[in-house]
Amino acid sequence: MNQAVERILISQEEIDAITTRLAAEIDRDYKDSDKRLVLLCVLKGSLVFTGDLMKKLTVPVEIDCMKVSSYGSSTESSGSVHIQLDLVRPDLPDCDVLIIEDIVDSGNTLTFLTNYLKAKGANSVKTCTLLDKPSRRRVPFEPDYRGVEIPDEFVIGYGLDYDERFRALPYIGILKPEVYGG
Ligand code: IMP
Ligand code: MG
Repeated sequence: MNQAVERILISQEEIDAITTRLAAEIDRDYKDSDKRLVLLCVLKGSLVFTGDLMKKLTVPVEIDCMKVSSYGSSTESSGSVHIQLDLVRPDLPDCDVLIIEDIVDSGNTLTFLTNYLKAKGANSVKTCTLLDKPSRRRVPFEPDYRGVEIPDEFVIGYGLDYDERFRALPYIGILKPEVYGG
């Protein structure tokens, strides 16, 4: 196990079972749509999750990415969301956008992105998150697809970082508080 990890919260096997369940739910809900289903990967944290999820879907999908930032410090959300890489798609009215997130924390990022993509004219906008920390909400937000609720701990791995590190870990682990001075 990585030296910075206090303990593994969600193992590779558990992540695999969660993504399989989510893919089945998404397949069921979108199989009769005549629109283009766009998985919108929120960079960089959702890269690994999006890649695994898309392989388990049977409905045809397209992939797009946006990059946003909301973090003031490494572990606390600043509240305002900035677009660092925008979505350029003139055909959004023909698209059902499913935003793929690694984790919902304050709710700021997905609230912002949902409103933004609706305002840009997407036929529909839904959200799918692997992890959810409902105890940390600053704005009311409910994802349409949720992998698993987790307690208020800072987690790393499977795409999630602390200061750009640990994204490549194949499991989700709790970061040792001494690593971020906690
Ligand atoms: P929100 O806008 O506060 O909901 O935060 C969402 C973003 O914060 C996620 O996409 C992550 O990039 C980041 N984040 C929140 N909690 C954690 C965590 O425990 N580990 C790593 N990143 C986190
Ligand atoms: Mg993220």
